[in-house]
Amino acid sequence: MKTKAPHSHGWLVGIVGLAAGISLMVLFPKLKAVAGVVLLVALFHLVGIAVVLGSLASFAPRRLGRFMENPRGRTSDEKGYDFGWSQVAMNGHWLAAVTLWTVAFGLQLQWPGLWPAWFAMALIGVNCFIGGLLLRTSKRTDFASLPLVDLLRSDKDLVLDAGCGGGRTTLALSKVLGGGRIVAVDRFDAYYIDGGGRALLERNLRIAGLTERVQIEQGDLTALPFPEAHFDSAVSAHVIDHLKQHKRTGLAEIFRVLKPGGRFLMVVWVPGLATFSLANVFCFLLTSKAGWRKLAREVGFEIRDEGTFNGMWFAVLERPR
Ligand SMILES: C[S@@+](CC[C@H](N)C(=O)[O-])C[C@H]1O[C@@H](n2cnc3c(N)ncnc32)[C@H](O)[C@@H]1O
Repeated sequence: MKTKAPHSHGWLVGIVGLAAGISLMVLFPKLKAVAGVVLLVALFHLVGIAVVLGSLASFAPRRLGRFMENPRGRTSDEKGYDFGWSQVAMNGHWLAAVTLWTVAFGLQLQWPGLWPAWFAMALIGVNCFIGGLLLRTSKRTDFASLPLVDLLRSDKDLVLDAGCGGGRTTLALSKVLGGGRIVAVDRFDAYYIDGGGRALLERNLRIAGLTERVQIEQGDLTALPFPEAHFDSAVSAHVIDHLKQHKRTGLAEIFRVLKPGGRFLMVVWVPGLATFSLANVFCFLLTSKAGWRKLAREVGFEIRDEGTFNGMWFAVLERPR
């Protein structure tokens, strides 16, 4: 049975209330008192929700994760592929944009002299809107989710998909990998992918007719359950950048399991315009391109290619022969 997320009405009351209050104020100035009450109730709801989310994030991050992964909003595409992205993940940026624009509009009406504040708020709203567009396009399967690069040794390669999640990268890889096989590895415990992703991956592979060609393994990227020099090539998209202080260990593990001459395609978030629209000022906390190059060289990789793809940065790293 579908359950309703607690407090989910708060956003709706907050945003609709703000819009209604501001409209009342503009269209019926005599009803200023009513408009004021409506605005107060709306702001009360928005602040309440922000406090609930803030407390959950500080005291119970996993509970917040479960709240955000609310399965009601999961979207599958026309083929039925479903990568487990929650409603919040798909629409959160647009919700933030509408909220910022509404507040900016209200400020502009009430205190036109405070133009730097409402102008900045409106600009951040535009930024969030662009971030939302970027997220939606990159979460559709009819858009390529890997860059076209010189990665494979042959179309019979054994390829590692490190951190496969619901299988978005696994499916993209299978399209260019003639008769080769893929080993899809993940811890399958990401709070932002419904159920951690394993059931979704199995389902997506069934739909794509790939069940026989893809071996699923539960494992940690910082201690891969494979012998040295096992894979011909490897791919990892939007994963190594999640490893925090273990990035170097993750890279070294991929280096270890690759055969000499094997190549690794890594896609990561780096500070830039696209990530600014997704993560705002927090994007400056991400490892820079120079930082990634340094880490890759330190574990022994040679950099064969690099570039920007869907707003993210990619590099083709080779384990020397
Ligand atoms: C943003 S998802 C990307 C999934 C997929 N590559 C894609 O592009 O759709 C990141 C994935 O990395 C996995 N992950 C993060 N840290 C991991 C680790 N230490 N070991 C294995 N998997 C990990 C998560 O479980 C999650 O499925």
